[in-house]
Amino acid sequence: MAKEPDNTPPEQRKLSNLSLLWGFVRAYPWHLAAALTALIVAALATLAIPQRLKLVVDNGFAAGSDAAKIAPFFWAMLGIVVILGVATAFRFYFVSWIGERVVADLRKAVQSHLLGLDPVFFEENRPAEIASRLTSDTAVIEQVVSTSASMALRNAATGIGGIIFMFTLAPKLTGLMLLVIPITILPIVILGRRVRTVARTSQDRIADVGTMVAEVLGAIKIVQAFTQERREATRFATAVESAFATAKRRIRLRAGMTAVVITLIFGAITLVLWQGALDVISGDLTGGTIAAFIFYAVIVAGAFGTLTEVYGDFMRAAGASGRMRELLVAQAGIRAPDNAVPLPVPARGALVLDHVVFHYPSKPDGAALEDFSLDVAAGETVAVVGPSGAGKSTLFQLVQRFYDPDAGQIRLDGVPLTSADPADIRARIAVVPQETVIFAASALENIRYGRPGATEAEVWAAAEAAHADKFLRELPDGINSFLGEAGTRLSGGQRQRLAIARAILRDAPVLLLDEATSALDSESERLVQRALEGLMHGRTTLVIAHRLATVRNADRIIVMDGGRIVAEGTHDRLIAGGGLYAKLARLQFEGEAQPTAA
Ligand SMILES: Nc1ncnc2c1ncn2[C@@H]1O[C@H](COP(=O)(O)OP(=O)(O)OP(=O)(O)O)[C@@H](O)[C@H]1O
Ligand SMILES: [Mg+2]
Repeated sequence: MAKEPDNTPPEQRKLSNLSLLWGFVRAYPWHLAAALTALIVAALATLAIPQRLKLVVDNGFAAGSDAAKIAPFFWAMLGIVVILGVATAFRFYFVSWIGERVVADLRKAVQSHLLGLDPVFFEENRPAEIASRLTSDTAVIEQVVSTSASMALRNAATGIGGIIFMFTLAPKLTGLMLLVIPITILPIVILGRRVRTVARTSQDRIADVGTMVAEVLGAIKIVQAFTQERREATRFATAVESAFATAKRRIRLRAGMTAVVITLIFGAITLVLWQGALDVISGDLTGGTIAAFIFYAVIVAGAFGTLTEVYGDFMRAAGASGRMRELLVAQAGIRAPDNAVPLPVPARGALVLDHVVFHYPSKPDGAALEDFSLDVAAGETVAVVGPSGAGKSTLFQLVQRFYDPDAGQIRLDGVPLTSADPADIRARIAVVPQETVIFAASALENIRYGRPGATEAEVWAAAEAAHADKFLRELPDGINSFLGEAGTRLSGGQRQRLAIARAILRDAPVLLLDEATSALDSESERLVQRALEGLMHGRTTLVIAHRLATVRNADRIIVMDGGRIVAEGTHDRLIAGGGLYAKLARLQFEGEAQPTAA
């Protein structure tokens, strides 16, 4: 047997994973009851048809019977057909309803759970892959809940019911058939197992293809700028071909399996019928009985055929539910403790870092912050400068509690961050991040992201303070203009001013500015700087800036290097000290022909 690479851990393939789905289905008992009722009625109607057929054949086709006598049989049969039609429609409606509902609930549950997870999780699980899983895995699940489950139940009911009716009609023939069936089932089960393995690989390959499309198209400008279209096309083609190759193996196996299944099952039926024909000749069975028997045999064979097919669907759904469950049980490393300490009211914004040591989980050797202590009084403005990679942004990550320190403690208004609810901490912080994030929505919605209840007048006030009002007015639809995916319809400086307006509107006691004005020209930088100074007034502010001109007026400047504070003081004192800061200042101000000195 050829070995297939199989990335799904065995614990994910267990059918018991489907219990996850049961948890969601159980929420709709009435729909479930309706679906089951319709299903049973439809199955009974299906099984009633051969019974009628027997009566029709034995009475209707007997020589010499008159037309009036056979009418009731046909009326009854028509009635059953109508019941079958209506019950099938109801079954379809309710079962599909449950399927769609469960998938909708599952998607919502997974998404809202993911929203609570910390950044470490998303460093280990790529968002593009999760997105692809969330659509492709739930599609598989939907297929099972809305189609396969009902097919399984229906066919189990008609299959077993059919066998029972067959026994009542012709026990000897049925017994013969039951002897033959296990012989036919065995190869089917063996083949089915192989088909499933390949099907799973095929599924994974398709997910790979989806992830790749998202990644490449998301970075289309980089791809084109570096003229890598052909390479990306080749890379994608390879992935697609590999998916096709796996699919080909699957359909080849499946085709072979179909041949075996059909030959065995219908071959067995033919042999049994042969015996039946002999029984009719000898007068042991009537023509009607044998007609009904054939009908049942076809129903039963079809039912078992379908059952083997949906078994594969169930296995796939088990894999998909396993992965969904994995997402659902992922625990946030950062979460509110059981008895979260409330932060004191009113907020002051006093921030203390006490001998903090921190390593990024993905980079365990090499501390991003090393024995870092900083005491920021309420209302104070502290500038953070230092070379790239010094750990400045990391400091902000920790203050927002996206990560916990390995040692030491961070306190906001006297409460250790680890004792408080992260949401409470973040409610007191407004941040302008280094990488501006603009959502695919209007400018208005983007600015009031941190305060959805803000009035339009408040939004405009914030936009003015950030010197964003002018360009906002000039947009095609003003502040209601759609900004495109990731704000592609704005310039870098405009995006940055939008982010500043968002932080201004947030109106929090602690303000974190990470290179908030780096994308602006000197003129707008000066204006925005002035606006920010107004904003910093009465707030605790940490401001990171490469351009030292923007941090001169801070109450205090700390100079970071290699995750440590290497110097601290006012601009003038640091220049006089002649360390790293003086060196940075000399390099910058020389070019700008500005006075450097104290
Ligand atoms: N998510 C992460 N996982 C692992 N390492 C990281 C992560 N983010 C940052 N680092 C590492 O931590 C160190 C400090 O990074 P940080 O982003 O804090 O630098 P920075 O001072 O803000 O630099 P810049 O001025 O270039 O923005 C760097 O060595 C960086 O490689
Ligand atoms: Mg940074």
